[in-house]
Amino acid sequence: MSKNTTISLSILSGKGGVGKSNLALNICYALHQIGHPVLLIDCDMGLANMDVLLGIAPQQHIQDILINNLNPAEVLVPIGNPGAAPFDLLPANSGMAEFAELDAGARGMLREKLNPLASAYDFLCLDIGAGISATAIGFAAMTALRIVVITPEPTSLTDSYAMMKVLSSRHSVQDFYILVNQAESSTEGRQTYNRLAAACKRFLGFAPAYLGEVRADKAVSEAVRKQKPLMQVSPLAPAAVDCMAAANSLQRLRENLLRTEEISAPLNSIVIHDF
Ligand SMILES: Nc1ncnc2c1ncn2[C@@H]1O[C@H](COP(=O)(O)OP(=O)(O)OP(=O)(O)O)[C@@H](O)[C@H]1O
Ligand SMILES: [Mg+2]
Repeated sequence: MSKNTTISLSILSGKGGVGKSNLALNICYALHQIGHPVLLIDCDMGLANMDVLLGIAPQQHIQDILINNLNPAEVLVPIGNPGAAPFDLLPANSGMAEFAELDAGARGMLREKLNPLASAYDFLCLDIGAGISATAIGFAAMTALRIVVITPEPTSLTDSYAMMKVLSSRHSVQDFYILVNQAESSTEGRQTYNRLAAACKRFLGFAPAYLGEVRADKAVSEAVRKQKPLMQVSPLAPAAVDCMAAANSLQRLRENLLRTEEISAPLNSIVIHDF
């Protein structure tokens, strides 16, 4: 059997509003710019907003795959630059309360429908809703890598610690990559990571890895108001430069993973246990 080269990653956080969706969009954009085909999936079923960040109004959504049995290919929206590597979005519909939480069966069904599509991409990126709901944790447990977005605020640290504790105890997942958002400097980013990593090592028995930091930058909210990716409208802004650095690290991580491990399926086929 040929080796799978698609790496799935989820972007998650304990505390809400730390910048997951903006970082997911811009890191994916950066990966696309450096030549990787990317599929970005809005998995924040209750409060999806990737379409708003992009200023688009898709007709079909991820929920249609589950409700109306649509093929994922019918739901994809190309959002990349023409002529470059593909960059596609699987948008979600916001405000469908009955779909805010997906049980293990629905997540499993989605996984089965998405995996055949995944081989066209180098990266599959799941933007996940904040917190430790069974849905958020279940999606995070499906991917090969997990990027935990934190900010220097103590509440962000304690909430992300709790999230990693749940994922490690319920799903035996211990490979986390910390991305510190809204850092004043790389020193503050590293110090924030060190505090969290020390607590994890002491009380959970493992330390997450450091992916990097993204500086606090008003260009982020300016791009949100323009409804365009920061990487597109202000590629030289500090936060955009940091997103590109994170994308370069992910590229190296993918190369290392492909050298050392057999990645069996983009979205893993282990049974997802609910709790
Ligand atoms: N590096 C940054 N510098 C300045 N502002 C930022 C930065 N990153 C994110 N923001 C701002 O933080 C706000 C929240 O961002 P975002 O919606 O991406 O967070 P989220 O973690 O996805 O939220 P939710 O938990 O609701 O899904 C946005 O208004 C955005 O402009
Ligand atoms: Mg979000």
